[in-house]
Amino acid sequence: MNRTVLGVLVSGRGSNLQAILDAIGAGLLKAKIGVVISDNADAQALNRVAGLGIATAVIERKSFASKIDFETAIVAELKSHQTELVVLAGFMRLLGRNFISSFSGRVMNIHPALLPAFPGLEAQKQAINYGVKISGCTVHFVDEGMDSGPIILQEAVLVNTDDTVETLSKRILEVEHVLYPRALKLFCEGRLSIDGRRVIITDDDSK
Ligand code: GAR
Repeated sequence: MNRTVLGVLVSGRGSNLQAILDAIGAGLLKAKIGVVISDNADAQALNRVAGLGIATAVIERKSFASKIDFETAIVAELKSHQTELVVLAGFMRLLGRNFISSFSGRVMNIHPALLPAFPGLEAQKQAINYGVKISGCTVHFVDEGMDSGPIILQEAVLVNTDDTVETLSKRILEVEHVLYPRALKLFCEGRLSIDGRRVIITDDDSK
């Protein structure tokens, strides 16, 4: 089977990028990272691929007059590396219509809450402040809205009475690191299709 070429967009720490690299390295995920693009020159995520022979690019919003120009540059970089699936891994920007239509049905994101609860920034803080007893994480296809695209996988994490944003974020992150590679594997195996708001997951024929 050909390896699906991933273009990974990051803004910061890059622990989800690391989980993807580890899943590929362990042979669990038949994918190849074509390029890692950061909108932040100081992102720790860039250090994670240093020396691995993976292309990287820093494309910062401040270098462009408009959001459209900024996103056009990202699309060009992704396409120049034959990207088949765009993977948002802690990429902290809302992508516009032009970007999404360039990779229709081929942009994935992970969000640290059980969507549609707590979209946007600081989802774990929103969950603590709201007082929910269960939160978790969601992998979804990206549409033009804020964390509103069709849901691929979700997993719950219990919120403890004494949780802080830090302790809850840490437990959710551990689950993210398993869930994202699992969702990517489904995509790479051609087992995901989008039917309106629903993502259909087909059975694994090899079993
Ligand atoms: C992760 O918790 C991810 O779910 C979240 O940012 C963190 C990035 O961590 N993403 C969002 O909140 C997107 N709305 P990482 O850089 O270590 O992967």
